[in-house]
Amino acid sequence: MPRIREARPEDAIAVAELHIRAWQAAYRGLLPDDFLDRLDVGERASRYSFGSAEPGAPQTILATFGERIGGFATIGPSRDDDAPDMGEIYALYVEPRSWRGGVGRLLLEEARGRLRERGFEEAILWVLVGNEGAARFYLADGWRPDGAERVEDPYGVVSRVARYRRGLGQAAF
Ligand SMILES: CC(C)(COP(=O)(O)OP(=O)(O)OC[C@H]1O[C@@H](n2cnc3c(N)ncnc32)[C@H](O)[C@@H]1OP(=O)(O)O)[C@@H](O)C(=O)NCCC(=O)NCCS
Repeated sequence: MPRIREARPEDAIAVAELHIRAWQAAYRGLLPDDFLDRLDVGERASRYSFGSAEPGAPQTILATFGERIGGFATIGPSRDDDAPDMGEIYALYVEPRSWRGGVGRLLLEEARGRLRERGFEEAILWVLVGNEGAARFYLADGWRPDGAERVEDPYGVVSRVARYRRGLGQAAF
């Protein structure tokens, strides 16, 4: 059974490596191959702010097997103007070789619990349209699409994403 701990600045490279492996495994066929093949660990790691003491800063938690990181989740306040006062799961990725082993469920339950502790009663998250595995994962945990969709290109590649929403008071999975 993995353990949960907060990410520290020195975890950034290992998390970025996992993040990229998960993107390459999950988004092949959904995002261009040359984009996925050129993802850069250092660049990805430079976007994290693990250990930040800023109020309202994103918080990243890790699921660990000893020294090895099995997955991570990043949470914080919603960034959407039309979903104020909600929490958001900004990212949730599991090492591909550990998929369907319960690591995602553990991270998702922990993420929800921490958002609830921060005072949020509802939360949102955005899923790449066509990422059927992730959609079924969130549906199984009671998340539902709320109808919002948008096209974004935060990493320089255009992608269509759909928003899911869930109350944080309900029981897990
Ligand atoms: C989506 C992801 C986080 C799920 O993590 P995981 O550790 O594989 O999930 P779990 O093993 O905890 O699955 C929990 C439940 O979710 C559902 N589920 C998870 N993956 C599924 C899939 N590919 N197809 C159908 N149902 C799935 C099942 O109900 C599962 O329970 P079960 O295995 O007892 O049937 C993981 O596959 C991943 O990192 N994918 C790539 C990145 C990604 O898409 N992240 C989400 C971006 S918003």
